[in-house]
Amino acid sequence: MSYAEQKVRVYLTAEQLSARVKALGEKITADLRGKPLVVISIMKGGAMFAADLVRHIDLPMEMEYLYARSYSGSKSTGIVEVERIPRLDLKGKNLLLIEDIIDTGLTMDTIKVEMTKLGAERVLLSSMLSKPARRVVEISIDYLGFEIPDEFVVGYGLDYNEDYRNLPYIGIYSET
Ligand code: IMP
Ligand code: MG
Repeated sequence: MSYAEQKVRVYLTAEQLSARVKALGEKITADLRGKPLVVISIMKGGAMFAADLVRHIDLPMEMEYLYARSYSGSKSTGIVEVERIPRLDLKGKNLLLIEDIIDTGLTMDTIKVEMTKLGAERVLLSSMLSKPARRVVEISIDYLGFEIPDEFVVGYGLDYNEDYRNLPYIGIYSET
């Protein structure tokens, strides 16, 4: 029995995730050909998705990382902290941000403001998940994995108080 089984119910299997990631990578490859590409993985949640996604993007690229956090337990604090913003010159380049989930949209709104200042030709966003029911600010997601209902999910990079990031699937977390 898996350590996570008591509190986590599988919602998207590893096979569903990898099929979707492959399709997104192929679409990104076709769309972003021709300009230098920089991808920024939003840590920590975006790490796994980014690692899988870039292996399906058949283009030369530079990889960067930044840290953002707004959650404590399963509640968004509404205060977004962005750390280690890479100081890059992105003129003439495409920038692809890779995130685990867009929930209220506040984190990505803050990140996009910072990233737009770097002068990229285009700033694009890929997110594995989106919870549209919770949106506070509008965010356009160029490459979305799955829309999900208003449930707290873990796995494939997503955590509950730092637990469960290593699950190969995405599951709905509940205390009981
Ligand atoms: P937002 O600023 O409300 O859009 O929140 C985005 C961030 O909150 C994500 O990058 C996640 O780290 C975290 N988050 C939002 N919903 C969930 C969830 O269901 N499970 C785990 N983390 C979540
Ligand atoms: Mg995150």
